[in-house]
Amino acid sequence: MTATSQATQDVVFDVDHVTLRFGGVVSLNDVTLQMYRGEILAVIGPNGAGKTSLFNSLTGVYTPQEGTVTVAGRAGDAPVSVIGKKTHVVNHLGVARTFQNIRLFPALTALENVKVGIETRQKSGPIAAMLGMPWQRREEKESTATALALLNDVGLPGRGNELAGALAYGEQRRLEIARALGTNPGVLLLDEPAAGTNPVEKRDLAELISRINRERGVSILLIEHDMKLVMSIAHRIIVLNFGEKIAEGTPQEIQRDPVVVAAYLGTSAEDAQQQAEQAPELTLIDTDTVQDEEQADD
Ligand SMILES: Nc1ncnc2c1ncn2[C@@H]1O[C@H](COP(=O)(O)OP(=O)(O)OP(=O)(O)O)[C@@H](O)[C@H]1O
Ligand SMILES: [Mg+2]
Repeated sequence: MTATSQATQDVVFDVDHVTLRFGGVVSLNDVTLQMYRGEILAVIGPNGAGKTSLFNSLTGVYTPQEGTVTVAGRAGDAPVSVIGKKTHVVNHLGVARTFQNIRLFPALTALENVKVGIETRQKSGPIAAMLGMPWQRREEKESTATALALLNDVGLPGRGNELAGALAYGEQRRLEIARALGTNPGVLLLDEPAAGTNPVEKRDLAELISRINRERGVSILLIEHDMKLVMSIAHRIIVLNFGEKIAEGTPQEIQRDPVVVAAYLGTSAEDAQQQAEQAPELTLIDTDTVQDEEQADD
């Protein structure tokens, strides 16, 4: 797998001097960043660094006390402010997400879960559905066909009638992605999509995320702790630590950055630099090895 970027200079998210506090806790401290259309941008950092808080600030869940966030969800959209908007409004702007803790309707089937996503952008409301209006029946057929295609696409072919809650953990994570894609997003935010999955599932997931980016042209913002996965598919990486952006760069730059290594090891940058010189295996992960492995696997 090669991390060839289709990124443009077109800004999807423009985050400017954002600070988010909960009482005395500063979850995001003066964070400024841009996400460009077409890229897979990873957000990494130790536990509690502010990664999920960033996602929540981008999607209308949290309202930062300071700073601005604008989004141009789909290609050609004019940027609009996210601050103070409700989550469903932000979703209509072309922003879809999955959650660190899976949020599906466990008692609905896989197909129904995806259709919930699709129907958020259809015109029929519950009244039209009850009356069985002709356009409603047409939309229903379309949404079933689209949902089946999406299930196929994320690697769950023929699983539509199974209850979401009965699917294996890794399958539920894929189902969440299918549901998010159902809203026809321009940008997809994935919060730890590989958490709790096995190595084979992680590899398949990396392939799926790359494919969604490449074939659908969806920009991807990815929070992930698995460094091998991140290094293999991200075009660019932003590192948060204690709510602050401490580094930004290509996977190669990030994994050799002593400030980043220090944040992960909990030491000073100087100590991390020394350790890296004495024991290079302590750097986050060797991308060359990852690429070699990927090629060997192909
Ligand atoms: N709703 C909230 N109320 C109070 N504090 C919060 C809230 N949301 C986040 N925080 C705090 O903000 C900080 C950042 O949390 P966040 O969940 O963004 O971290 P994270 O980088 O996603 O961590 P993890 O890797 O463990 O998921 C933490 O100190 C957390 O306790
Ligand atoms: Mg988190």
